[in-house]
This record gives sequence, structure tokens and C-alpha cells, in this order.
Amino acid sequence: MRIGILTGGGDAPGLNIAVYTLTKLVEKRHEVYAILHGWRGILNREIRRVSSRDLLDFAFTGGTYIKTSRTNPFKDEARAEQFAKAIKELGLDVIVAIGGDDTLSVAAEAQARGLVNTVGIPKTIDNDVYGTDYTIGFDTAVNEAIRVTESFKTTLISHERVGVVEVMGREAGWIALFTGLATMADFVLIPEKPVSWDAVVKRIKETYDNKRWALIVVSEGIKEYEGPKDEFGHSRLGGVGNELANYIEKTTGLEARAVIPGHIIRGSAPTAFDRILAVRFATEAYGAIEEGDYGKMVAYKGGDITRIPITEVLGRNRLVSGYWLRLYETFWAI
Ligand code: F6P
Repeated sequence: MRIGILTGGGDAPGLNIAVYTLTKLVEKRHEVYAILHGWRGILNREIRRVSSRDLLDFAFTGGTYIKTSRTNPFKDEARAEQFAKAIKELGLDVIVAIGGDDTLSVAAEAQARGLVNTVGIPKTIDNDVYGTDYTIGFDTAVNEAIRVTESFKTTLISHERVGVVEVMGREAGWIALFTGLATMADFVLIPEKPVSWDAVVKRIKETYDNKRWALIVVSEGIKEYEGPKDEFGHSRLGGVGNELANYIEKTTGLEARAVIPGHIIRGSAPTAFDRILAVRFATEAYGAIEEGDYGKMVAYKGGDITRIPITEVLGRNRLVSGYWLRLYETFWAI
């Protein structure tokens, strides 16, 4: 068979390992094609035959060697027609789509329309794909966010300031929550738990009076600003960290600073957890291909790797809830 592999959406540490491992397994019996630039690579017919040897030297780095994009081939019917034509011409039997909910939604739609067989692998630093406890890239991003936050903390302590760290995550507060727990931040703001800024300021003032510095972790998605949207209709987020730091200065007279690690937490080499997760997901995806079990996404559930229909995942974000929300409230309920 001719098997295509693509990565779509924001890059995430561990993608290269997933692509490499899958290629290494698949090439024993089939032809492997890298689809460059995510779904755009189908529309532009950018596919390249690859071997695991081609991918090995970059397998353990961050980023995605086969490139990515946020292209939605079903944006309108004209584009959907071009997409269907391109898939037919390329003659791929299966496409393994490694991505977040947007990329996976395209895989589900392509399968439903009978254009090509698909298998999904969930990745995103946001950890917000429904149906899986972890996505490739989240663990590395959290470790990087912790590293940045700990460095920031030393200067907050020295200058006796209030610090705000803004982390990515879109509508899900996972990165902020895990960073806050791991650094025992004084307050964490997540989209799942809206709070009044005045109540936060009051809490921070008390904390500051006690220890002469304070740390807040805020998830970018607690506030949306006007700005461009991507092809899936998502706004570009970011900026709330500075606004919150300014608000704290204005209302308390304390000196405050914000840092926004932004894309830096997305770019480093994958942690052990993300490496093993990528290997396990790729191995399961290979199993799905050999068994002809299409339209499935591989998932991590309670330590095991399973497969679930991609359609189950669509339109549903995995947000901070249940046990994790209770843990949040243990420290930061207002
Ligand atoms: O979805 C992953 C993510 O890193 C989000 O956390 C963030 O809002 C977004 O991508 C940033 O996208 P871009 O790389 O296009 O700026």
C-alpha cells in the first residue's frame, strides 16, 4: 500500500519521533510518503517518498521535519472538490494524520466522504484533544514552562516583585494548571474557572504582604482580543499576561512584570514521556493500518494505548474538569 503521513496545526515536541517510528514500522511492507505542510500538502501535491533513514537524523529534535500548516481543505465546497481530486490523483491508500482536533476533523471528514482511509494520532501542547489523557508535546511544553517560571521566580524574589507568566493552551487551562502545580504558584487563572481580577488582586496582595513576592500563572485563553482568525475559525490568543500585570500595578502600587514564553515552550527536544508516547502512538497507528481499522484515533487512557473513532473526538475539547478541577480548587478557589 501507499501510506501518507502528515503533521498539521501547531508543531509539538515528539512529532518527529512519531513520524520516524511509524515510517520504520510501515516501510517493512509498504511505501511511505511524507505529505509536506499538513493538509496543504495534499492540495499542492507535495508528497515525497521517504525512508526511516531520511528521517533518523532529525527524529529526536523538536518541531516537525515534514512541516505543518493550519489548512482546512473543507473550508468551502470548491476547495473540498480540489482536495478530493488531489487525493485521487496521489493514489494514497491510507493517510495518518498527526494533529489536534482541527487536523483530525479533516481526517474524519475525508474518511466519511470516502476519499481515503485515515488513522489519527493526537498531538498538541494544549492537551485538549477529547478522548485521550495525553497528547504528544504537552509534557515537554509543561517542563519548559516550569523551567522558565523557576528562572523568573529567582528574579521576582530578588526584586520583591509580583510576576505573571502567561502560557499557551487556547480554551484549555492544562499547561497553566500543571505549571502552577509544579511551581506552587500563588494563583493560577484558567479559562475553565473564570474569576474576578479584583479577587485575584486581593489574594495576591495578602500573599505579597506575607512573603514580599508573588507568582501568578495565567492561561492565554482566559481572554480573547480582536485579531485574525485561522482557517478553522480560531482567534490568535495572547496578551492577557501584560494586561494583568498592569492591572496589578495600577490597583496595588506593587511592581509587577509579565513574561510570555510563547512558542519557546513548543520548540525544545521532547522529554522522555513525549518520546515514549510518540513511539507508543505510532506503533498503535501501525497496528490500525495492518488491521484495516480505519477512521480511528489512537489514544492514551489510564496508561494504556487504545483506539477510538475519530468522530467521537470531534467538536469536543478536553477541558480541565473532575479531579483536576478539584485539585485546582484545593489551592486557588476564591
Ligand atoms: O494549539 C497549539 C498552540 O500552541 C496554542 O496553544 C496557541 O494558541 C497556538 O497554537 C499558537 O499558534 P501559532 O503557532 O499559529 O501562533
